Formats: sequence, structure tokens, C-alpha cells
Amino acid sequence: MDSSLNYNYKIVRQFAIATVVWGVIGMLAGVFIAAQLAWPALNFDIPWLSYGRLRPLHTNAVIFAFGICGLFATSYYVVQRTCQVRLFSDKLAAFTFWGWQAVLVLAAITLPMGFTRGKEYAELEWPIAILIAVVWVAYAVVFFGTIIKRRVQHIYVANWFFGGYILAVAILHIVNGMVMPVSAFKSYSMYAGVQDAMIQWWYGHNAVGFILTAGYLGMVYYFIPKQAERPVYSYRLSIVHFWALIFTYMWAGPHHLHYTALPDWTQSLGMVFSLILLAPSWGGMINGIMTLSGAWHKLRSDPILKFMIVSLSFYGMATFEGPMMSIKTINALSHYTDWTIAHVHAGALGWVGFITMGSIYYLIPRLAGKKQMYSIGLVDLHFWVATIGIVLYIASMWIAGVMQGLMWRAVNPDGTLTYTFVEGVKATFPYYVIRFTGGALYLSGMLVMAFNTWMTMRGTKNVDVQIAALAAGHATGTRVPVNA
Ligand code: HEM
Ligand code: HEM
Repeated sequence: MDSSLNYNYKIVRQFAIATVVWGVIGMLAGVFIAAQLAWPALNFDIPWLSYGRLRPLHTNAVIFAFGICGLFATSYYVVQRTCQVRLFSDKLAAFTFWGWQAVLVLAAITLPMGFTRGKEYAELEWPIAILIAVVWVAYAVVFFGTIIKRRVQHIYVANWFFGGYILAVAILHIVNGMVMPVSAFKSYSMYAGVQDAMIQWWYGHNAVGFILTAGYLGMVYYFIPKQAERPVYSYRLSIVHFWALIFTYMWAGPHHLHYTALPDWTQSLGMVFSLILLAPSWGGMINGIMTLSGAWHKLRSDPILKFMIVSLSFYGMATFEGPMMSIKTINALSHYTDWTIAHVHAGALGWVGFITMGSIYYLIPRLAGKKQMYSIGLVDLHFWVATIGIVLYIASMWIAGVMQGLMWRAVNPDGTLTYTFVEGVKATFPYYVIRFTGGALYLSGMLVMAFNTWMTMRGTKNVDVQIAALAAGHATGTRVPVNA
């Protein structure tokens, strides 16, 4: 009997569908706030629709809803396949799904109402933060419990990346979440002043390092070899990549606090570690791209592989740009400008978005007991619409960012500023319209994905039996180094 029957695919299916649904919601919020920056009247003077409240709604929805549901789905799938064993506990896994959805719904209600801890990416107030901690511990028990009861001796590298992300997020969330509640919806940080800022950006940067990077590298090391039907280019390099990356990321947080009250040596330390970070990042990117050796021709006909390989190109771009922006003199120009927003979205749309979409496209037919997506043509359409969207988004924000930085620092011979602030805002307007257009294209690609997912999933009855029959009849594909 095929072992597919013994895996818990239900939980993977639930999280995969949630990824698509939250992706649409989070990106819709992104497009709406992008429109507000161009046309501020769009807040309609309603507090719930004000930019300050919807911006954290966007970041929470794309990172914690779209991003982390994708990581739940893929990590639960990969850990079962590579350990050749069912999840440690179905009930606990179901708790992580419903618990996490409860967190997301509470976020979608409380953020527009204006409840916030005021810390970026850690806005949710203390009762919700406690729920996050509880769900996360359950996630860790399910994931590591599955690793412990594995049937193969080797722990495949993708699991190291997923495991690193799960452990690090638990530590970051708990340490940065230490607060003193004063009411059911208000709390104050236990840390003060510059220590508070340092802990926040140790958290913030490692949210990038462990959620937006390490977790997705787990996807890279499983789904790219699978889709390309080639083994990982260098397994040895993947191990070096893992240890070098997790060691270095932890020290780079101070690059978010250049020229602040943070001690100067701390800022320089953050800069040096950020520069070092280029090496493991590019080592990993090259390892992923070279996995296609001998299979480059597949890029012509396989849009899912296109998503995956282009995501690695954006990963390379963002991890080259990041170290450059961490150099203090360059940060003096880029900080506070839309250059940061370009960097963020090269990483978010290009890297995080594309590797998630590629991996979910890989999963959906397998979870529906089908051979492939309802329409490969629509996957290709999604790829091109989204790629054009990203280019419009990041190119416009790069130009706007450098322009703003240069305008703000321009001085006349007598020492007065050449431009008023509002002149900078006016000059940025056309770029905000272009960014809105790019974002709308990216969102429309996501809607195409939602339609394609719906059509693929539709009408699947006795899905586990169909999956097993499919696996028995069409057991094709090169396996990753372990029999996954
Ligand atoms: C070698 C890797 C990277 C380094 C050294 C790095 C460095 C930086 C620097 C210097 C900033 C600007 C800080 C400021 O002026 O306030 C920044 C901002 C940011 N980066 Fe990166 N970056 C890297 C990779 C990535 C990747 C792959 C992503 C994925 C999406 C990402 C997401 C972000 C985000 C979200 C911010 C904005 C944080 C905020 O102010 O809210 N970075 N990064
Ligand atoms: C349709 C796609 C999207 C659009 C139109 C969009 C738009 C925006 C806008 C307008 C902002 C505020 C910029 C500012 O304050 O100047 C923003 C911030 C942000 N977005 Fe998006 N976004 C999109 C998708 C995503 C995705 C998929 C992710 C993550 C996976 C993401 C992560 C972020 C982050 C982390 C920030 C905060 C950046 C910072 O503080 O420096 N966005 N986005």
C-alpha cells in the first residue's frame, strides 16, 4: 500500500487553501494602502480605513497569514515525506490550524480598531500575543515530535531550515513580547529606551532572517529538486549554508538603527555582520539555481519551475541590496525613503511570494488527487502578470527612494534646504501611481491563482484514496536525497 495514505494531508490542504485566501486579502490591503499614498482622500475620513491602521493590517496579513500559512503547509508536508512518517499528532496539528486562524481573524478585527503595541511586526496586543505563543509551542511539538519518530535516520536539510525557523520565532516572539498589561487591550513594553529599540530590531531583523528567509529556504531545498527532478546541486553546501546563515543573522539587527542613540560600536557590528551575510545568502542562492543543472530546458515549458527559479534571483537581488544598505553612509541616503520599500518588496513579492506560489502550485494537485493544476496556461499567465507587477513596483520605488534621499539632503550655498518636504512628496506622486499599478497586477495574478486552485480542488471526493491511487500509478520524479 502506498504510504501516502498514512500521511496527514488534510492539514496540509487546509493550510495551502488558507495561504491562497489570505494572500488575496493581504495583497488587497497592500493595493488599497498603495492607492491611499497616491490619493489620500481614499481614507474617506473613517478611522478604521486610515493608513496608520491599515498598514499594519497589510503587513500582518501578508507575513503572518499568507506567509506563515504557506510555511505551515509546506513544513507539515515536507517533514512527513522526508521522515516517512505521519505527523506526531493529528489533534495538535488541527489545533495549530484553528488556533492560527483565530489569531489572524483577531488581528483583522483589532488592528483596524486601533489596538496596537506600536512595535512593527509585533503590533498584536498581549492576549493575542499569548495565543500566538501557545499555538507556536504546539507547532514545535508537532514538527519536532514528527522528526523524533521518523523512519529514516537522516534529517533532510529542508527540515533543518524549518526547525531553525520554528525555534527562532518562538524565542524572538517571547523575548520581544515581554510587556506589562494595563488593561485587556493595552500593554507597555518591559524594556525602556534604547534597549527597547534594540530588542525590537533584533526581533524585526530576525523575523526577516528566520521567517522570510530560513523558512522559505526549507521550501527551496525540497520543492526545487522535486519540480526540477534533479538532486540538490551540493548537499554539503546546503549544510554549510544552514549553519552560516543562522549564526550570522542573529547579529545584524542594529543596521535598522543606524545614527540613533544606539552605541556606535553596536551599529558598526550590525553593519559588519550584514556584509558577511552576503556570503551564505549567495551560497544558498547559487546552490538552488545550480540544482537546475541539466534541466534548464524545463524552464521553457514549466511555469511552476519559473516561479521557483525567479524567486531565487530576487533572493539574490535582495540579499545583495541589503548588505549595501547596511553600510552606514549608504543607509544615510536610503533610510526613511521608499528605497527601503523597494528592498522589502523585492524580497517580499519576488522571493517570498514566488517561492510560496511555486510550492503551493506543486502541492495543490497532489492534495486534490489530480495529476496537475486545472490550467497550466493560467499558471503561466499568473507568472507573467506578477513578474511585470514586481518590476513596476520595485523600479518605481527605487527611483522614488533615491530621488527623495537626494532632495532631502540638497542644500543651497547659504546652508538652507533646496527643497521643502512637500516638494519631495509632490515629486513622488507619479511613482506612487506606478507602484499602485504594479501592485494591482500582482494582486490580479493572485486572483488567477485562487481561481485555478478552486477549479483544481473542486469536486474531489474520497481525496485520500485518489491521492494513493495517483501515487501508485504515477510514481515518477527524481527523489530528493532521502526517499521523500
Ligand atoms: C543579506 C540579507 C539582508 C540584509 C543584510 C538586509 C539589510 C537590510 C537593511 C540595511 C534594511 C534597511 C534598514 C533601515 O534603513 O531601516 C533592510 C530593511 C528591510 N529588509 Fe532587508 N536585508 C536583507 C535581506 C532581506 C530579505 C531577503 C528580505 C525579505 C523580504 C528583507 C526584508 C526587509 C524588510 C521587511 C525591511 C524593512 C524593515 C522595516 O523597517 O520595517 N531583507 N534590510
Ligand atoms: C499586491 C501586493 C502588495 C502591495 C501593493 C503592497 C504595498 C505596500 C505598501 C503601500 C506598503 C507601505 C509602504 C510605506 O509605508 O511607504 C507596504 C509595506 C510593507 N509590505 Fe507590502 N505590498 C504588497 C505585497 C506584500 C507582500 C506579499 C509582502 C510580504 C510577503 C509585503 C510586505 C510588506 C512589508 C514587510 C511592509 C513594511 C515595510 C517597511 O516598514 O519598511 N507586501 N506594502
